[in-house]
Amino acid sequence: MKLNRLERLAMNNPIRAWVQRHFEAPRLLGLGGAVDGWTALEIGCGRGVGIEIILQVFRASHVDAFDLDPRMVSLARRRCARFGEAVSIWTGDACSIPRPAASYDAVFDFGIVHHVPNWRSAISEVYRVLKPGGRFYAEEVFARLINGSPWRYLAKHPADERFDGDGFAGALGDAGFELTGRRGLADRFGWFVAAKPESRRPPG
Ligand SMILES: C[S@@+](CC[C@H](N)C(=O)[O-])C[C@H]1O[C@@H](n2cnc3c(N)ncnc32)[C@H](O)[C@@H]1O
Repeated sequence: MKLNRLERLAMNNPIRAWVQRHFEAPRLLGLGGAVDGWTALEIGCGRGVGIEIILQVFRASHVDAFDLDPRMVSLARRRCARFGEAVSIWTGDACSIPRPAASYDAVFDFGIVHHVPNWRSAISEVYRVLKPGGRFYAEEVFARLINGSPWRYLAKHPADERFDGDGFAGALGDAGFELTGRRGLADRFGWFVAAKPESRRPPG
């Protein structure tokens, strides 16, 4: 689901970029470590600050990224043009990622899965496109913030079945991930790192 005007303003400004770089990214880095030389994907890249962080802080060698909103994609392309062929950006949906299975070493989610109506399907897609041994880094916003005042009146989110930290962690496990790190803040925000196992355990 695309952002409304107010949430676009809340996302596309230097304060948000500072928080993402100096508060959110260090938490994910602390949980999962850098991805030196890896090929990464960012889902819901917004205006592209996450792409910079994945290259400069996590030290990926290449970042693919997409967003549902073509206006965000234009901003991200402009912002990241200086990275040349190290970055590729398109308009797309996290529930249907146009890449073969096992394409990426790491996938990043900076606060987008809570915007997806069928969010479990987005997690399954992330699992599909990760290589065995690859890592999913997720920073997420929980139902308590989305459904509480004043955010529920100001922002536009899918109405039903939003998750809390346990719900998100449980969905990662249901998709096949092994949760390797988790932090939370006031039941409203969470940081998760999950690994796609090298090989599936046989059923039973
Ligand atoms: C809260 S913003 C976060 C943007 C960026 N990751 C950041 O941290 O600044 C959520 C972003 O997810 C995008 N989005 C929402 N639903 C999506 C979907 N199904 N697939 C891809 N992107 C989506 C929105 O257009 C928006 O840019």
